[in-house]
Amino acid sequence: MTNGPEDHKRILYGRRRGHKLRPGQQELVNNLLPHLLVSLPDEGMMNPADQFEIEPDTRTANDSPGNAFWLEVGFGGGEHLAAQAEANPDVSIFGCEPFENGVASLLAHIENKGLRNVRIHNDDARDLIAALPEASIDRAFLLFPDPWPKSRHAKRRFVSAENLTSLARVLTDDAEFRVATDHVSYCRWALSQLLKHPDFSWQAECASDWRVRSADWPPTRYEQKALDQGRKPVYFKFRRKMRESN
Ligand SMILES: C[S@@+](CC[C@H](N)C(=O)[O-])C[C@H]1O[C@@H](n2cnc3c(N)ncnc32)[C@H](O)[C@@H]1O
Repeated sequence: MTNGPEDHKRILYGRRRGHKLRPGQQELVNNLLPHLLVSLPDEGMMNPADQFEIEPDTRTANDSPGNAFWLEVGFGGGEHLAAQAEANPDVSIFGCEPFENGVASLLAHIENKGLRNVRIHNDDARDLIAALPEASIDRAFLLFPDPWPKSRHAKRRFVSAENLTSLARVLTDDAEFRVATDHVSYCRWALSQLLKHPDFSWQAECASDWRVRSADWPPTRYEQKALDQGRKPVYFKFRRKMRESN
């Protein structure tokens, strides 16, 4: 018997469920989530624009097809994703998060802010990335990924040569890849992996480039936790290098 992709892949995330959802959250999961779920093809690639089609009977004059596609891996409670979607209504944003309570939290933000440019993959981001066409994502975010600090768990860290290569395939030339962490060893790990990867370059010129979160980078819940506990996060901006033309 198989249970899908998790059978043949190492699981990278911690838990899928936390406390029981409140009735309002459960209602959003039952009634709103099905309209926003990404539908992955059984085989081959999907067309990102198809995922953001708005049902004709609910379409409004303000609904414009996305000019750009962004991707957030592990959005947690969805504060950053919702703030980006609100600030950038002409960008279509994919969010991936297997933790049900996080998905319910993002759904509440989507409903409260009336967002129409968000689609959710409530599972492993690697499956969505594998189904995206080459050079289809204009910006990606990996904010406060699970650090898996023990060296025997290092293979569970999202930043790895394999995942960076998958991500580089779907990023457009010069696309920005933002990574934040409050974990000293993850910071070293992520920097070393990204600096040696042939498809990414780090644009930082001075310490404030990575010590200070830029104004167009909304905060997250984990970031606040880290700050409350006295840890100073780092905010990296990498670029996907230009592809060589044939
Ligand atoms: C430490 S939390 C940070 C959440 C959020 N980005 C924040 O800053 O508040 C890391 C999140 O990444 C999610 N995650 C881990 N591996 C993932 C994967 N392979 N695909 C999608 N999400 C993943 C976890 O479920 C968890 O919610």
